[in-house]
Amino acid sequence: MDFPMFHLDWLNDRFLIAAIAILHVCINHGLAVGFIPYITWLEQKGVANAPKDRVTDPEWDHLIYKKMKVAFIITTTLGAMTGVGIWFSVVLVSPASIGSLIRVFYWAWFVEWLVFCTEVILILIYFLTWKSANKSFKSKIRHIRFGWFLSVFSWITMAIIVSILGFMMDPGNWNSNHSLLNGFSNPIYIPQLMFRTPTAMLLGGVFGMTLTTIFSRNEPELRQRAVRYAGQWILAWTPLVVAGAVFYWNVMPAAMKDNLSTAVGTLEFQSYYDILKYFIIGTASLSVVLAAFAVWKPQRIGFKYVIIPCLLVFGFLGIFERVREFIRKPYVIGGYMYSNLLRKQDYPLYKRDGILKYATYTSVTEVTEENKLEAGKMVFINTCSRCHTTNGINSIVNVFENIYGKGKPLEDKSMESYIPNMHNGRTFMPPYPGNQKELKALVAYIKHLQQTGDHLEGAQTEGVSINPLWDDEHVAASAEKKQAQQQQSKQMSNN
Ligand code: HEC
Repeated sequence: MDFPMFHLDWLNDRFLIAAIAILHVCINHGLAVGFIPYITWLEQKGVANAPKDRVTDPEWDHLIYKKMKVAFIITTTLGAMTGVGIWFSVVLVSPASIGSLIRVFYWAWFVEWLVFCTEVILILIYFLTWKSANKSFKSKIRHIRFGWFLSVFSWITMAIIVSILGFMMDPGNWNSNHSLLNGFSNPIYIPQLMFRTPTAMLLGGVFGMTLTTIFSRNEPELRQRAVRYAGQWILAWTPLVVAGAVFYWNVMPAAMKDNLSTAVGTLEFQSYYDILKYFIIGTASLSVVLAAFAVWKPQRIGFKYVIIPCLLVFGFLGIFERVREFIRKPYVIGGYMYSNLLRKQDYPLYKRDGILKYATYTSVTEVTEENKLEAGKMVFINTCSRCHTTNGINSIVNVFENIYGKGKPLEDKSMESYIPNMHNGRTFMPPYPGNQKELKALVAYIKHLQQTGDHLEGAQTEGVSINPLWDDEHVAASAEKKQAQQQQSKQMSNN
């Protein structure tokens, strides 16, 4: 509540973060963390299988170089931009939570930034010196070594960030003792890292196989060799993916598993959850079938066989990220801050006095019959707008109409009894924080939205009004009043 509320009413704020973050993770895992070691390994194979008195097998080396070029271009443009894009989007949509995370993980992020800068320098060296390194055996070996350094540094940036992702799901004993170490060593961290690492490798291999089929279309012998290596790479990492997934599943708190059925689809598709689940597992396994086939009959593998499994595994990672973001709800930071950006420990205060008094940006602090709609809007912005829109995706009118019937007038009384209990049935929603008067105002506002089709603009379009209790005159007046009271009580005690 300390920040103006940016709001995208058509798209939904959560969607903005998710779209950028998912793209970023796909590039990071598939084209950096998992791909670079795969490329380096292949480059090394080229040297090992080189004809006598050559540094490497030139055709092979050229194929690997072309694959690296794709990763280089995408990671340094789209990859880097979406990385910064995550910062932009979370700062707009969820400033309070990112503020808290920065306070806890300041030094971790600082180190991550240094590692990232090193990674950028290493990838420049690795890619740009590739050709010149082929001059002598010694420089080729040094070049390969840079590939391994780059692999390690790419992995470290991921390893640091994964700790923060784990922390948001379950901060562990940090909630009782706020230290960086307690936050960093949260219970979900290692299992999630053990799952993500081999998954990234698998993705790198599948992406690599796809590129192989594109770049060596007219060189069957080369293609067969490269396809077989990619298959071996994928098969080698598969058992670790499965083990990591089991490990991760076992540390996931039960409350999060309850959210899974909605996380995978939406409420509407909840009943299809089982089918969807098997479909996802099935499509992910397709890449393993492909890998086995690639090792067994590499000559049969062409672009048209690889592209579908490739898109499916990247899709699988996308769904995995969406699910991870969803199941930690109602919290954005487990046990500490709800996804509406209100801290759990402040709830008793909000329930007693209402939330509008404490909001920094609100035009109304006390609900009256005259300002009811305006107050309701302020309550909506502060308690529902991080997840609901008025007219767009997950619209608040829609979700109520789903309960009461499409187009039917919404019923005040039952909404007033539904909202304070919504977190019990729908565990992904935080409890309603305000007082009774604010609840009535919120209901009136939602009904008004239904009747008029009105919609809500965010602070970026509508501007902000600062809490009237906090403007200069008001603060000065209350300070004077306080001073006068203090003087009075001093005089009384002197007498
Ligand atoms: C943390 C995000 C979040 C917040 C905050 C939130 N909701 Fe929701 N709400 C959801 C999601 C997600 C759904 C499910 C939508 C779907 O899948 O169809 C939902 C569904 C609903 C439903 C339909 C539930 C059902 O049983 O069909 C209602 C009603 C609702 N929300 C009201 C509210 C109100 C009122 C507020 C503010 C006081 C609020 N929500 C705040 C995320 C949130």
